[in-house]
Formats: sequence, C-alpha cells, structure tokens
Amino acid sequence: MAMKISVVGTGYVGAVTGATFAEVCGHSVLFVDVIKDKVDKIRSGKAPFYEPGLDELLSKNRDKLHATTDFSEVRDSDAIFLCVGTPPSPDGSVDLSQVFSAVGCILPYIQDGKFRVIVTKSTVPPTTGEKVIKRLEQKGLVLGRDFGYASNPEFLREGNAVHDSLHPDRIVVGCADKKTEDVMKKIYSSFQCTKIFTDVRTAEMIKYTANALLATKISFANEIARLCSRLGVDVYHVMDAVALDHRVNREFLNAGLGFGGSCFPKDVKGLISLFENMNIPTNLLSSVLDVNESQPLFGINILKESLGGLSRRTVGVIGLSFKENTDDVRETRAYPLIKGILSEGARVVVYDPLASENFVNEYPDVGQKIVLAKSLRDAIDSSDAIVIHTAWDEVKRLSPNSFKEGQVILDGRRALDVEKFKNSDKVTYVGIGW
Ligand code: UDX
Repeated sequence: MAMKISVVGTGYVGAVTGATFAEVCGHSVLFVDVIKDKVDKIRSGKAPFYEPGLDELLSKNRDKLHATTDFSEVRDSDAIFLCVGTPPSPDGSVDLSQVFSAVGCILPYIQDGKFRVIVTKSTVPPTTGEKVIKRLEQKGLVLGRDFGYASNPEFLREGNAVHDSLHPDRIVVGCADKKTEDVMKKIYSSFQCTKIFTDVRTAEMIKYTANALLATKISFANEIARLCSRLGVDVYHVMDAVALDHRVNREFLNAGLGFGGSCFPKDVKGLISLFENMNIPTNLLSSVLDVNESQPLFGINILKESLGGLSRRTVGVIGLSFKENTDDVRETRAYPLIKGILSEGARVVVYDPLASENFVNEYPDVGQKIVLAKSLRDAIDSSDAIVIHTAWDEVKRLSPNSFKEGQVILDGRRALDVEKFKNSDKVTYVGIGW
C-alpha cells in the first residue's frame, strides 16, 4: 500500500532511502533539506553527491519524489524519516545536534493531533530515541496517540548504496509503541528479506554492534597481515581457508591500509565513548582503532625497505577517497599515508579520478604539499614508487607493462593481479601481508 513519507536530510542515507521507497514500494516521498542546492538537484532528478546508480533511480521515480526546504510540508506524511548527519565530536562522542535540530524543525507541524511516526535512520547511540521521545513529550505530545517513534538503522555501503538499499540483508525496526509497529510493517511490506521488530534501544545497539564487528574483522585481518608479511605468507590465502569454517564469513577480512569512511571510525569511537561514560573498560575496541591508525605507517615501512629509503624520492599515491566508487574522503587512510610519506622527506604526486578536490579541501595541511597528477599515466610516469590506496577499476586494469622499469609498487588494497606482478621482472611488487 502506497504511503506518504518525508525524508529529512538528503545525504547518502536520506537520498537512497527515499529513492528506494519510491522504487520498491511505490510510496510518495518528500525530501526535506535545509540546503536549497541539494533540494534543487533532487528536483532535477540528480543526486546531490556521487553514488553509482542513484541518478537513474531518482529520475526514474520522479513522479513519486518531491523535494522542498519548507518543513511545513511534512504535515501531509504518515512517517517522517530523520536521515541527518551524526558526525563525531572532538572527544569521540556523537554530535546529535542535527537530529535535535531536525526534530525542532518538524515539531510545529506535527502538533495537530494526526498520528505520524518519527523514524530515526541516522546512526545514533543507544538511548537517543528515548531522548527524542522526551523532547516531543515536553511539548505536550503523547507517544502512541499524537506520534509514534521508531529506530530503523541503515546498513548501506557508499559506492554500493543503491544495491544495498534495494536488496537489504535484513531490516531492523525498533518500535516505541504498537501503532508504530503497524505503520512500519506497512511501509516495508514490499520487502521480502528478514525483518526484525524489536525495541528502540536494541535497534540502536544492533547498528553500532554491526559496524564495530565489521571494523574489528578488518583490524584483525590487518594485524595478522603484519605477521604474514614478515613470514612470507599470503594473508589472503590464510583468510580464504579460515573462512571455509562455517562459523566464519570471508567478507571484511581483506587486509590492506585500514578502514576509512564516515561510519566505521566514527561508530567505533562513539561506542568507546559509551563504554567510557559507563566506566566499562574497552580494550578490544581501542585496539581496533590503534591497528587502523598504525596500518598506513606499517605500509610505509614496507615501501621504505623496498625502495631503500624515501628521502628525496617521488612517491605516487593512487586513490584519495576512502574506497573506490565514491568521492568521499572522510577518514580516508590516504591522509595518514601521505602525511607519513611526506614526513620521510619524499615528494608526493597523487591521482584520483573523483576525489582530488574534496581531499585538498578537507586536508589542506597535506593538500598544499602534494602535486595533483592529471591522469593515472602522469602519476606513474613521474614517480619512483607507486602506492595504491584505492582500488578504482582503472587501477585494477593495470599490468606490469603499465609501469616504469624498476618501479616499486606497494599495493595497499590488493587491487592488482598478484601472481602476474610478483613474477614480473620489470617491477618490484609488494603487498601488506601477501
Ligand atoms: C560501512 C558499512 O559496511 C555499512 O553497513 C554501514 O552502515 C556504513 O559503513 P562504508 O563505510 O560505506 O559502509 O564502506 P565499506 O564498504 O564498509 O568500507 C569501509 C572501509 O573499510 C573502506 O575504507 C574499505 O576499504 C575498508 N575495508 C573493507 C577493508 O579495508 N577491508 C575489507 O575487507 C572491507
């Protein structure tokens, strides 16, 4: 049954969620954002950021999608999804100001006695839902009568967001009241995957736990990779075999230069700060971050050994976004990587098909000291050594012949054909544990 849904915030989560509701369920979706530019983009059938497949989904469903900066239009909805940013505060805790500001913006328009569900999709620490409910109750609204509340975390990956949203592994919904559960069941009735209905706090905890476990898997693989690199063992072969045990899954055991992005670093820090607030020690999660912080430096040491020092050499760093198929540079490992290479006295040339401008704006300290190559070819031609940070498709297609004679290549993402490169007489290929 088609419903009326408002989506507040048109970032990755909001834009993709709204487009998915229109595509899969036929719901009518109103995007609301305080930034007019983003609203105008959506109106013209375009995503406000780079995400493969999203423009097509937005333009295909144009008749069901609307966008506005006017919060009063949320009056007409059955459910209002909060999809605003929850960035980290300097102390590692989660900054919830955008969530409460969004609640403040919709408040004047939900006090007319019509029952609407407020749904938080943004990643928020457990107990946030209770605080939002309290804020609404302070305005005289009664939960279950004047409004409903649900926590409905999103698990999509940037670069694969459209696919993940159209084909979720599971849908998690934590409801604060019975009427909300009925509305949420209707909203998601077109999805066939497993749906978990639980309470709000549990749903919030599921999201943090999922991201913390995935981040832990990566840091685990990276720590094992360090030992493998000294033993001459291929950590990917080790993980392939380990994962054949039915108790283990092979995903997110790919060693490399560490994890970046807007979620894993922030959510692990957010979880640590929750432990700290409750005076519970967290050795494991702190170690997950420690391994991730030092992994680029471990890579630099491998490069140094292979090249016989980095001073006055030119190193080409390929890929600045935190992973392929996105121009997002938040928490990218390219930043500590380049900083470390520069501190060794090397010159750094960089190439990225999409993220160079974002990188220079986000990290001006390093941005001022690097040379932006016009193409992958230019970066290779002007460097003594190459470090692959992001496994873009054009990088994956490179062969030993694409490189200069004697060039050292540190493949930080196992993007290249390892066998071919290791057997090549033309270049020196090194991995991080393979
Ligand atoms: C992540 C989660 O996957 C998603 O479910 C969540 O809701 C949001 O955060 P995202 O940050 O977009 O998604 O990207 P993801 O594909 O998970 O990669 C995160 C980082 O981990 C990247 O830097 C990636 O290169 C790195 N990574 C991933 C590894 O180093 N090894 C792996 O095996 C997998």
